[in-house]
Amino acid sequence: MPLPPFPLINFIFLLLSLTLTTATCPNKCGSLQFSYPFGVGSHCSMASSFNIICKKSTHSPKPYFNITDKLLEIIAIYPSQIRVKYPYLLAATCYNNTAVYPHNVTLDVYSSVDLSDTQYAISDQNWLTAVGCDDIVAAFGHNNKSFAGGCVSYCFNNEPGGYGVCPNDENGYSAGNGCCRTSIPKGTTSLAAQLSDLGGKWLRDKYFPCSYAFVEEKRTSKQSAFRYPFSDLNKSKNISKEDEWVLTTPQPVLQLDWRVGTQNCSEAQRNSSTYACKANAECINLESNSDWTQGYLCRCKKGYHGNPYLKACQDINECDNIELNPCDSNAICTNTIGAAYCSCPKGYAGDGWKIDGKGCIPSNMIHVFIGVGSGIGFLLLLSMCILVHILLQKRRNEKRKEKFFKRNGGLLLQQQTNEGTIQKTKLFSSEELEKATDNFNESRILGRGGQGTVYKGMLSDGKIVAIKKSKLLNKDQLEQFINEVVILSHVNHKNVVKLWGCCLETDVPLLVYELVPNGTLFDLIQDPNTEFQVSWNMRLKIATDIAGALAYLHSALSIPIYHRDVKSSNILLGEKYTVKLSDFGISRSFGTDQTHLTTLVKGTFGYFDPEYFQSSQFTEKSDVYSFGVVLVELLTGQRPISLDIREEERSLVIRFLESMEENYLYKILDDQVLKHGNEEEVIAVAWLAQRCLNLKGKMRPTMKEVAIELESLYMFVEDGEVCEAKSMIISDNEYAWAASGISVESTSSILTFSSESMHATSS
Ligand SMILES: *[C@@H]1O[C@H](CO)[C@@H](O)[C@H](O)[C@H]1NC(C)=O
Ligand SMILES: *[C@@H]1O[C@H](CO)[C@@H](O)[C@H](O)[C@H]1NC(C)=O
Ligand SMILES: *[C@@H]1O[C@H](CO)[C@@H](O)[C@H](O)[C@H]1NC(C)=O
Ligand SMILES: *[C@@H]1O[C@H](CO)[C@@H](O)[C@H](O)[C@H]1NC(C)=O
Ligand SMILES: *[C@@H]1O[C@H](CO)[C@@H](O)[C@H](O)[C@H]1NC(C)=O
Ligand SMILES: *[C@@H]1O[C@H](CO)[C@@H](O)[C@H](O)[C@H]1NC(C)=O
Ligand SMILES: *[C@@H]1O[C@H](CO)[C@@H](O)[C@H](O)[C@H]1NC(C)=O
Ligand SMILES: *[C@@H]1O[C@H](CO)[C@@H](O)[C@H](O)[C@H]1NC(C)=O
Repeated sequence: MPLPPFPLINFIFLLLSLTLTTATCPNKCGSLQFSYPFGVGSHCSMASSFNIICKKSTHSPKPYFNITDKLLEIIAIYPSQIRVKYPYLLAATCYNNTAVYPHNVTLDVYSSVDLSDTQYAISDQNWLTAVGCDDIVAAFGHNNKSFAGGCVSYCFNNEPGGYGVCPNDENGYSAGNGCCRTSIPKGTTSLAAQLSDLGGKWLRDKYFPCSYAFVEEKRTSKQSAFRYPFSDLNKSKNISKEDEWVLTTPQPVLQLDWRVGTQNCSEAQRNSSTYACKANAECINLESNSDWTQGYLCRCKKGYHGNPYLKACQDINECDNIELNPCDSNAICTNTIGAAYCSCPKGYAGDGWKIDGKGCIPSNMIHVFIGVGSGIGFLLLLSMCILVHILLQKRRNEKRKEKFFKRNGGLLLQQQTNEGTIQKTKLFSSEELEKATDNFNESRILGRGGQGTVYKGMLSDGKIVAIKKSKLLNKDQLEQFINEVVILSHVNHKNVVKLWGCCLETDVPLLVYELVPNGTLFDLIQDPNTEFQVSWNMRLKIATDIAGALAYLHSALSIPIYHRDVKSSNILLGEKYTVKLSDFGISRSFGTDQTHLTTLVKGTFGYFDPEYFQSSQFTEKSDVYSFGVVLVELLTGQRPISLDIREEERSLVIRFLESMEENYLYKILDDQVLKHGNEEEVIAVAWLAQRCLNLKGKMRPTMKEVAIELESLYMFVEDGEVCEAKSMIISDNEYAWAASGISVESTSSILTFSSESMHATSS
C-alpha cells in the first residue's frame, strides 16, 4: 500500500487538531444536550451560572448547576429557560401545642431561593406552595421592595391516613385541602417565605403541629396535583433538621428564566466588548416585572441560523431546504443573504412565489385562458356553469329528501305496508304540507306536546287537517312513529282518530290526521276554569264510545290491537263530544294465538295495570284496567294521581276502591254526577269500574263485555238526541257485535243510593 502523499497527512493532522479543540467543550452530559453559553468548565461557558458540572453516577453522568449554594440537577435547557430539581423547603414551622392558641413554636426555620448573583430569575411558571392546616404563608421577593404575596391554607378534614391536596388549576385559586398556592412574578431573583399560625377570628382547627412551604413549577393539568400524607405534618423527622429539608415524592422542579448580562439590550449594545450577540443576531430583552432584574438573550435574525452567542449567524440557503423554499416548483429560486427570491424561467408567466404569489404558469396556457376569456367561449362556459349548478342543486335537494325519507323510516314503512293487506298510507309531499300550514306558521299551532307540535292545516282539496310535526327522532321514537302509522292505517273506526297520511321527506316526519278540535277528555275533566259540567248522559256516552273503540281494536280486527296507553289525555274530543282514541305510539298488534306480550313496561303512571307492572306481560286485560281508571275519572272528575294530597291517598283508584268497599261512594263522586246522575246507572258504572280495576286480570271483564254493558245502560237513557246517537252506533256497519250470550252481572245487582247516604249491596 503506497503511503499517502505528504499534504494529505498534513490535512489529517489539521482535521484532528480541529476536532480536539471542539472536543474539549462537550455538548452533552448524560442525556442532556446543550451549547454555548452553557458548557462544562469555565472556559466552555460564558459565566459561572452557565457552568455545568457533569457528575458521574451509577448509570450515566448527571448534569448540575452550582447555584444558590447548592448543586441543582438539571432536567432541561431551553432557548430562554432551564428546569432544575429543587427539593428544598423555604420555610418550616412546628408548634408545641396545637390545642390552645397562641401555640408555642418549637421549630421555625427559613431558607430562600437566592439567584441574585446568577444569570437566572424565577419564572412566572412557578408558584409558592404552603402545606399545613390553619396557616398563612407570606412570600417576599428580593430587594425587599418588589414583591410580597401570600395565601392561607386550611384543612377540611384530618382523617388518619388522609392526604392533603394542592390546588392544581391555572391560577392555583381552587380550594385545596391543607394546601394553598400563590404565584410569583417574572423577574424575581430571590424568594423567601414565612409561615404564621392563623389567630384570632381567623382561627380554625389546627390539626397538626407542623407546616412547611416550598416553591414548585406549575404542573400541567395532565400531571396530578401535589399530594402528601397528613402524617407528614405530625412533627415529621424530615422537616425538623435542616439537612433533612428535602421533599422526596414528588420532587419539586423549578423553572428559571436565563439571560446574559445584567443590562437591557440598549445598555448592553453600548459596550461592544461585552455585548454577547454576534453578527446577524438580534437582541431580546428579558421579560421582567422587576426593574432590578435585567438582561437579554440573542437570537439569529430571520433567514440566518447558528449559535448567536458563539459566532456570527450564517445565512440559510432557503433554496436547498424544501420547507423553507418560498418558490413555486416551476420557479427558479435564488438564495440571497438572509432571504431568497423567486423568478419564473423562460416560457412561464407569474412571479414565482408559492405563498401569496402567482407561482409560475406555462405561457401557452395563459394564451388559452385569454383566448377563451375574450371570446364567446367564456359566455358559453359561464352559462354551462350555471346550468350545471342548477342541476347539481336539484339533485342535491332530491338526495336530501331521499335521505330524510330513509332516516324517517320510509323504507320500514314501505316494508310494513307491503307485507299486510292494509290500505296504503298516503305519502304527502313536503311542499303540499308547507302550503297547507302556511310554512308552519306560528299562528297555525294548535298545541305543543311531548312528541311534537300540532299545526292546523288545509289540504289542497279543502280538507282541514291536524299536522303533527314530530320532534327530532331517535331510533326508539322512530319505531313508535312507524308503529303509529302502521296501526292507524289498519284501523277504520269512528271513535279512533283518522290518519290521512304522512310525510317523510322533511328533516322530521310529519303526520297528517283528521282535525279533532275540542281538546282532550283530560282537559275537559281537569280544566280548573270550567267545572266539569258535562251531564251524566254525556259521560255515559263518552264511556260507551271509548269502550266501543277499544272493543273494536281488541276483537273486531283480524289481528287484535292493544292500545297500551289508554288515558284521558289520549282521548280527543270532536264536535258534540264525539271521542276519538289517539296516540298509538306504543300500541301493539297481536297474532291471534298470542295471549300476552312480554315487553318493556311502557305506559302512564296512574293508569298502569299493576299485574302488567309486576309481570311485564301485557294482555288485553291491561287495557281494560286503564279503561277502568278512565271510568273512575268520569265518575269522580278527579285526577288519577293527585299530588296535592297525602301520599297514601294519592291514587284515585285506591280511594275509589275503598269508597266502594266501605259504602261511601257518594263522598268521592263528582257533584254533577251525584246531583243529576241516574242513581242506578251511576252505581252500575261504578260496579263496572270496580270489576275493570280488579287486581287479577283474569277476573276483569273483556273490553267487549264492558262495551255491551255500557251500551245496554246507555239504551235506557230517555233523552231523544242521545237515543239517536245510540241507533247510529247500532247501525254502524264498520263492525258488529257477535251475539254471544254474555251475562251482565252488575245489572243483576241491587243498589240503592241517595244524596245523603249511599249503600251498595249486592244480592
Ligand atoms: C459551588 O460553588 C461554591 C462557590 O460559589 C464553591 O465553594 C463550591 O465548592 C462549589 N461546589 C461544587 C460542587 O463545585
Ligand atoms: C407557651 O410557653 C410559655 C412559656 O414558655 C407558657 O407559659 C405557655 O403556657 C405556653 N403555652 C402553651 C399553649 O403551651
Ligand atoms: C413545649 O413547651 C413546654 C412548655 O409549655 C416546654 O417545656 C417544652 O420544652 C416545649 N417543647 C419543645 C420541643 O420545645
Ligand atoms: C432585605 O431586608 C433584610 C432585612 O430587612 C436585609 O438584611 C437585606 O439586606 C435586604 N436585602 C436587600 C437586597 O435589600
Ligand atoms: C398525628 O399524631 C397524633 C398523635 O401522635 C395521632 O393521634 C394522629 O392520628 C396522627 N395523625 C396522622 C394523620 O397521622
Ligand atoms: C418524610 O420522610 C419519609 C420517610 O423518610 C418519606 O416517606 C416522606 O415522603 C417524607 N415527607 C416529605 C414531605 O418529604
Ligand atoms: C434599559 O435600562 C436603562 C437603565 O436601567 C433604562 O434607563 C432604559 O429605559 C432601559 N431600556 C429599556 C428599553 O427597557
Ligand atoms: C466595556 O466593558 C469592559 C469590560 O467590562 C470595560 O472594561 C469597558 O470600560 C467598557 N467600556 C465602556 C465604553 O463602557
